[in-house]
Amino acid sequence: MEVTSTFAETRGLYGGTVGLLPTLGFFHEGHLRLMGLLRERCDTLVVSLFVNPTQFNDPGDFDAYPRDIERDSELAGGAGVDILFAPSVEEVYGGVSITTVEVTGVTDEMEGRHRPGHFVGVATVVAKLFAGLRPEMAMFGRKDAQQLVVLRAMTSDLRFPIEIVEAPVVREPDGLALSSRNVRLGSTGREKALAISRGLFQASEQVDAGEGRGERLEATVGRSIRSLQVDYVKLASLKTMKPIADLSEPAVLAVAASVDGIRLIDNVMFDWIEGRPRPDRGVFLDELSTLTSLP
Ligand code: PAJ
Repeated sequence: MEVTSTFAETRGLYGGTVGLLPTLGFFHEGHLRLMGLLRERCDTLVVSLFVNPTQFNDPGDFDAYPRDIERDSELAGGAGVDILFAPSVEEVYGGVSITTVEVTGVTDEMEGRHRPGHFVGVATVVAKLFAGLRPEMAMFGRKDAQQLVVLRAMTSDLRFPIEIVEAPVVREPDGLALSSRNVRLGSTGREKALAISRGLFQASEQVDAGEGRGERLEATVGRSIRSLQVDYVKLASLKTMKPIADLSEPAVLAVAASVDGIRLIDNVMFDWIEGRPRPDRGVFLDELSTLTSLP
């Protein structure tokens, strides 16, 4: 595996079709799963590792974001990555840099509402990665459902000839969605955090049994996480990312809540299969992850 820091040297190493997985680094088994899935689809697998300053609306969160390039390059090498692209802030934002990318509408609610400026930072950095690295395909996880919808719109609107590949939510055996932030949860925090996925799975069972009222599904999740500090629980259309009253189109039941000050997001997407909604609960690891457990 090569570790690169400029767009030009990275492109110079390509052979065949190129797949890109953009990340903020500090890999967990979820990231490694995504690398494995993308590995099967391309000849040159590029993972970008860049803690993008413009997408952190809270500077404290940016400073606290875990960073360890040595650990990450070892893990990426083991996952079959060809190139780990770890640029400097100068390489990505140097020069004039007076251009931003703002995706409208689908950014109004949920994460967009609670993290002002976040999606401008995300769309801008991903547009820069697409323009600078020019992959044939790029993978994004369903864990960040709204981000996925925002980046699909950006890719289509800016006419990037790049296929967007979706990956399922990767979960611990007990359901907790993997996140770099999980390392900051103590064992009691981890127990409390389980209420999020538990609530989403209960709502999914209701959907399987025919329930389609947004209010009911949101209430089920709300009851499960009533002891957490809840930002939102919303049933939203996957097309508009706006709240919907009934499950009558592809949708997402999305949650953001904090456990002891650590903000977590999770969701279940409802794909439309044979005329009815099918919950996508994601994929479960066989064993408890080691990368996000307590030291
Ligand atoms: P990051 O949080 O590092 O996530 C990188 C990719 O991994 C994203 O597509 C995210 O959705 C996916 N991912 C993270 N945890 C996951 C899980 N448990 N299951 C499935 N997929 C998961 O998202 C970002 O970085 C940044 O915003 C980025 C797109 C790189 C732009 O800076």
